[in-house]
Amino acid sequence: MVKVAPSILSADFSKLGDEIKRLEREGADWIHIDVMDGVFVPNITIGQGVVKSLRPFTVLPFDVHLMITKPERYVKEFSDAGADYITIHQEACDCIDSVLDDIHSFGKKAGLSISPETPFSAVESYMDKIDLLLVMTVHPGFGGQAFMSECLPKVADARKMINDNGYSMEISVDGGINYDTGKIAVSTGASVLAAGSAIFKAKDMKMEISRWHDL
Ligand code: DX5
Ligand code: ZN
Repeated sequence: MVKVAPSILSADFSKLGDEIKRLEREGADWIHIDVMDGVFVPNITIGQGVVKSLRPFTVLPFDVHLMITKPERYVKEFSDAGADYITIHQEACDCIDSVLDDIHSFGKKAGLSISPETPFSAVESYMDKIDLLLVMTVHPGFGGQAFMSECLPKVADARKMINDNGYSMEISVDGGINYDTGKIAVSTGASVLAAGSAIFKAKDMKMEISRWHDL
């Protein structure tokens, strides 16, 4: 079954706890939390304090997407705050191997993400030590952008490598995902759909999540 990871970037920030409870009730698998620093991306969202305060509201895994420069400075804090998956950006980090090791040493799952302009070859050598590859299908920074189908060959390449080597890991796509683009991404090899707008704007969130599960 496809995993659905709604992004709380599209939630009502004045009541995030309630929004997270609602996502759990409506069938979400993971809670996708977009952390932006205003440097790696031109937007600022939430920090480790907010993640910590949201932790009691759900038992669902927190899928923390760090769009921050030099993420090595903060992985311990997000781990302590209750993240389950901690994903860093290839473009934002000069010491990827040691950060992945750090994340694992905290007992957490380690993810690596690539922006649209970054080729799959930039992360190939890490595929045997990550738990999640997050392929951005928009330029990171904002919700509500249009899906970039030109990023999909990277999903196909990653899926082939995983299958050829018997790796057990997830491939997530993030940005502009709705039922139609999600369907294409899953048929290309994605196993997790991260989405903000399409989930929060759905007339019936439960039904929307449920039909994504079957993509
Ligand atoms: C964008 C974030 C996404 C964002 C997706 O930088 O990483 O997770 O919330 O939003 P939608 O689904 O609206 O494109
Ligand atoms: Zn994200």
